[in-house]
Amino acid sequence: MGAQALGQIAAADTLDGVEALRIALLGKQGSISALLKTLGGMSPEERQSTGPRIQALREGVTNALAARKATLEAAALEARLAAETVDLTLPAPETPRGSVHPVSQVMDELAEIFADLGFAVATGPEIEDDWHNFTALNMPETHPARAMHDTFYLPDLTAEGREMVLRTHTSPVQIRAMLAAGGNQPLRIIAPGRVYRSDSDATHTPMFHQVEGLVIGKDIHLGHLKWTLETMLKAFFEREDIVLRLRPSYFPFTEPSVEVDTGYSYVDGRRVVGGSGDEPGHHWMELLGSGMVNAHVLRAGGYDPAEWQGFAFGVGVDRLAMLKYGMNDLRAFFDGDARWLNHYGFGA
Ligand code: PHE
Repeated sequence: MGAQALGQIAAADTLDGVEALRIALLGKQGSISALLKTLGGMSPEERQSTGPRIQALREGVTNALAARKATLEAAALEARLAAETVDLTLPAPETPRGSVHPVSQVMDELAEIFADLGFAVATGPEIEDDWHNFTALNMPETHPARAMHDTFYLPDLTAEGREMVLRTHTSPVQIRAMLAAGGNQPLRIIAPGRVYRSDSDATHTPMFHQVEGLVIGKDIHLGHLKWTLETMLKAFFEREDIVLRLRPSYFPFTEPSVEVDTGYSYVDGRRVVGGSGDEPGHHWMELLGSGMVNAHVLRAGGYDPAEWQGFAFGVGVDRLAMLKYGMNDLRAFFDGDARWLNHYGFGA
């Protein structure tokens, strides 16, 4: 019986088969269990000689079953490993990566350029009160220049009953920076951020970006303004041949006010900044507004105009980005279309 059982175990080729044999041999109704039961009816002598043989048989079968089970399990594992191999040479699936939006890139670049010139970054709220956005910038309530900005007015949400607007420019940060400085120390800040005007066409979006600049000191004049803008634009466009034209203009918060133009020409149908606008084949393009800080504004910011002067400028970031990267429709900046970003090399 032992040899037969061991033969069956060796021939079992599935784990289920091994289990079935275990039950048939060693289970409660199993044949070896039945043999063990016969011991009870034997004489002591018989039991002494037969007992150990049956026990040996049981042990041999138990060991053979365990060994066969282990062999079959190892084979099954082997087969599974072979079937489930990971092919490390397969190319990884493409995962799209994000990138920094051109407008954010330009603001970061400008912040870096100005940091080299000793400017700190200042910020202010996009939901601004009427006083910071207009009044303190020398635009009292009845001032006609208020109409120059197509302002988004907000319902009165403040406890003090202040009139709130979506800031129409970054210039209110001038006031906030001056007041924070306490009126008795020089200032050199830029304020990048979003601004809002109710206006929309190919060159205007209701939300756009500006970088404000403000320098306050004791001997500041228009020459400092021109040098600063020239230095900034040369670094930004990475060209030495930037030529600026300062044109008299009007802003309520600067006196005198100048609009700054830069020369450009067309290369392959794209505007490329460089050279004087008076050269043949060149043109002037308006780039930004600026001027010497108006005495009323200095006073609103807590500075004594008898002692302090300053210059300020405000530049449209979206416009600069379009120029630098040869883009032509401002609205595409805010469509969030990845194909457009890829086209200009801003994709993954
Ligand atoms: N705030 C002005 C605008 O948005 C720009 C400007 C800033 C002009 C600072 C002069 C000085 O048009």
